Amino acid sequence: MSVQPPTDVTEAAAPTPTGTAQGHLPGTENEGEGQLGPTNRPMPAFAEPRPLAAHGPARIIAMCNQKGGVGKTTTTINLGAALAEVGRKVLLVDFDPQGALSVGLGINPHELDVTIYNVLMQRETDARSAVRPTAVAGLDLLPANIDLSAAEVQLVGEVAREMVLSRALRPIVDDYDVVLIDCQPSLGLLTVNALTAAHGVLIPLECEFFALRGVALLVETIEKVQDRLNPKLEIDGILATMYDGRTLHSREVVARVVEAFGDTVFHTVIGRTVKFPDATVAAEPITVYAATHAGAQAYRQLARELIARGDVA
Ligand SMILES: Nc1ncnc2c1ncn2[C@@H]1O[C@H](COP(=O)(O)OP(=O)(O)O)[C@@H](O)[C@H]1O
Ligand SMILES: [Mg+2]
Repeated sequence: MSVQPPTDVTEAAAPTPTGTAQGHLPGTENEGEGQLGPTNRPMPAFAEPRPLAAHGPARIIAMCNQKGGVGKTTTTINLGAALAEVGRKVLLVDFDPQGALSVGLGINPHELDVTIYNVLMQRETDARSAVRPTAVAGLDLLPANIDLSAAEVQLVGEVAREMVLSRALRPIVDDYDVVLIDCQPSLGLLTVNALTAAHGVLIPLECEFFALRGVALLVETIEKVQDRLNPKLEIDGILATMYDGRTLHSREVVARVVEAFGDTVFHTVIGRTVKFPDATVAAEPITVYAATHAGAQAYRQLARELIARGDVA
């Protein structure tokens, strides 16, 4: 779906004293069909996904927001794990030289010989040779480490430098139902490569005062990529993260985001809970670390919502 942000979404992010969050607003409980959900819209029922008879080709989704600390990596791990739980074959691509996705899945990226860097920069290195399984069945990882920061510099001189990731993923997309790319917090060449390789973009937004600051620039970048490199690119959805339903502030930020982006905003919101950083320390998805916790349920619901929207098979 295409998205037209208001001319000044930064202003739209500022909660006003008038408020818009009237009526019953549950906290982080997303379930409850028909009732108003945390995004202040009636909550649809998301059907339990059916098992797939065959796998692939994958929908490639880039987790993108040039702001750091908004939940890109957390969403990549936990949405990926939740999709794997319902039988989808999932590849997570670490596309941040910090390697937080790899670390969050229990891999020490500094000890790796073959990473996404080699796949990008050496034609003879097949993506398959860098992919490794995780502790979660059906969930694979293409890891990264600090080497990737050199790729950003080296790619500048390459022919079709924006399409290097797209080409690198081509041999393995048929093996998966979903590929999630965890982007770094910038709109530089690596992120443009991710947007060029992707079918969809998922934008995590932290529920705080300046959440929408910078989103206009992100949407502008997405539109440039659509124009010049990848006409089929869509915004799959905007995900409110670190939501605290007890605060008027969180509810107002979500209301502003829905005002600005309408149905592009997922009904599912991700509550703020220390279980997420705890799960990162344990190097496990929350669906494993605290399988029945509301945070795990929220990512399972997001997986069902993505499938129900038809974005993912
Ligand atoms: N819903 C949440 N509630 C509380 N903490 C969270 C939540 N999502 C992420 N975090 C924590 O916030 C920090 C930044 O999240 P991360 O996913 O790494 O963001 P990004 O990849 O966008 O930089 C991490 O320490 C992570 O554990
Ligand atoms: Mg990250």
